[in-house]
Amino acid sequence: MTDQRPVAIVGAGLVGSGWALVFARAGYHVAVYDPSPDIRAGVVPWARQSLAELTHAGLVDAPDEIVARITLHDTLQAALAGAFYVQESVYETVAAKTEVSLAIDALMDADAVVGSSSSGIPASKFTADCANRERFLIAHPVNPPHLVPVVELVPAPWTSPAAVDLVADLMKTVKQVPVRLTREIDGFVLNRLQGVLLNEAWALYEDGIASLADIDATIAYGLGLRWSFMGPFETIDLNAPGGIEDYATRLRGLYAGMVRTPPPGPWPDAVVAKATAERRAALPVDALAERRAWRDGVLGRLLAFKKSNCLAD
Ligand SMILES: NC(=O)c1ccc[n+]([C@@H]2O[C@H](COP(=O)([O-])OP(=O)(O)OC[C@H]3O[C@@H](n4cnc5c(N)ncnc54)[C@H](O)[C@@H]3O)[C@@H](O)[C@H]2O)c1
Repeated sequence: MTDQRPVAIVGAGLVGSGWALVFARAGYHVAVYDPSPDIRAGVVPWARQSLAELTHAGLVDAPDEIVARITLHDTLQAALAGAFYVQESVYETVAAKTEVSLAIDALMDADAVVGSSSSGIPASKFTADCANRERFLIAHPVNPPHLVPVVELVPAPWTSPAAVDLVADLMKTVKQVPVRLTREIDGFVLNRLQGVLLNEAWALYEDGIASLADIDATIAYGLGLRWSFMGPFETIDLNAPGGIEDYATRLRGLYAGMVRTPPPGPWPDAVVAKATAERRAALPVDALAERRAWRDGVLGRLLAFKKSNCLAD
């Protein structure tokens, strides 16, 4: 930990509360602001419950000390006071992001940097009029950020390299894994990759090539096992005797023939309805929250496994 000043969390819903845990777990004092009293009231009980699971998985000790570092504030000004880094996690609309960015801009410390959790709206769409716009960028996490460490750093054209460096260093300090994009692109890297897979999964399902459950199983019991610790390039480097070049020689023709024409459009309503009926038959809507908690427990144990096998920090 290099900077002793607090981190501010602006917006404490699903993602913002996860971020609070990320920074508090690493030793930072975390000042949380959300305009909703109900949301604010839920942050600490949620953090306590999540920390109990992390403690059980051997991933943290001293959970009470971690919770004690989180303070809740009912004004933006109070949360930003003295903060060297602001993680913004408000609603994913240009209007909401613009309004909150301008408000942060007016109150932030002279050298503070602001990372937005935006899943897809680039910073250039909502920080153009900020006086400190060179210190705003995207720091896009995966939900829940305290269990899935990757963070995409995406600069706007006017973001200073120093601001990106600061956030990259901070993310490493708090044990997240920063991935740097050189410029803005729709969907960033993570959702572009996920988008290709999802579009293909919907198309295979719509064409009746395989059932929804079998398509899911292909990832859960196939591709996903390797993907939990290595990416697609390292995967193919190991999947041909001579490495990636050999793989390309052998199989590039196969992949070249797989391009869909025309490119995928929006997922059709009727196909979404059919998939929804299947999923709800497998998991009723009122069981989703319980299944999310199960997912988080599995993620925690997977992280603990990776850590104990030197596959993660
Ligand atoms: N949920 C995900 O899977 C996920 C993953 C990665 C990134 N994100 C991104 O994170 C951001 C937040 O998403 P979420 O899922 O946590 O949404 P959410 O609805 O759970 O939380 C949004 C919170 O923002 C608060 N808020 C609204 N206006 C505010 C303001 N002016 N100042 C402070 N707080 C304000 C709301 O009260 C609410 O608690 C979005 O940009 C989203 O795209 C979400």
